[in-house]
Amino acid sequence: MVIDILRQEHRNIERLLLVLERELGVFARGERPDYEVVHAVIAYFQVYPDACHHPLEDMVFERLKVRDSTAAAKIGDLAADHRRGAERLRRVAQAVESVLADRELLRQTVNDVIRDFIEKERRHMAMEERDFFPAAVKSLQPQDWAEIAARWTDQRDPLFSDLAEERFEVVRSHILQLEQEAEAERSANAAF
Ligand SMILES: [Fe+2]
Ligand SMILES: [Fe+2]
Repeated sequence: MVIDILRQEHRNIERLLLVLERELGVFARGERPDYEVVHAVIAYFQVYPDACHHPLEDMVFERLKVRDSTAAAKIGDLAADHRRGAERLRRVAQAVESVLADRELLRQTVNDVIRDFIEKERRHMAMEERDFFPAAVKSLQPQDWAEIAARWTDQRDPLFSDLAEERFEVVRSHILQLEQEAEAERSANAAF
């Protein structure tokens, strides 16, 4: 159940990484990406993972350390990985601001910074799905899952968290909608 939630969140994250990747493709072709979309994706990543995803993963990881320290050691330092992800996102935001402010920044550098963020996020999620989640499913006991679920509900005001999850879904749909419109506009322009 907890792992199902985490997997679903990965799918949500991947949908937005794809949007960012498509806009990066436009930028790499020397055209102007839709900065409304780019900003919305960055804003989403600035809030969503730390609000919803990482705290739950961290709790599962804490239990895994107790149940199977070897498996946990193989996975490494999950919290540090999450911090590095946030750091890469800050670089993405700065790179985008530099472009918009017309500051000297090589297109290639901007491209590399955003590409690096997308790839490392994907690699991190792939590692979790390959190593972390199966190890947790294998080693955590029913009482661990019950405890995690209880702490998760305790930490989050149920009304607030339902509302927050709904809002994130609204934001995601909004971004996907904007992206569709941007794509439609680009193909209409290309037709001329
Ligand atoms: Fe993670
Ligand atoms: Fe994750």
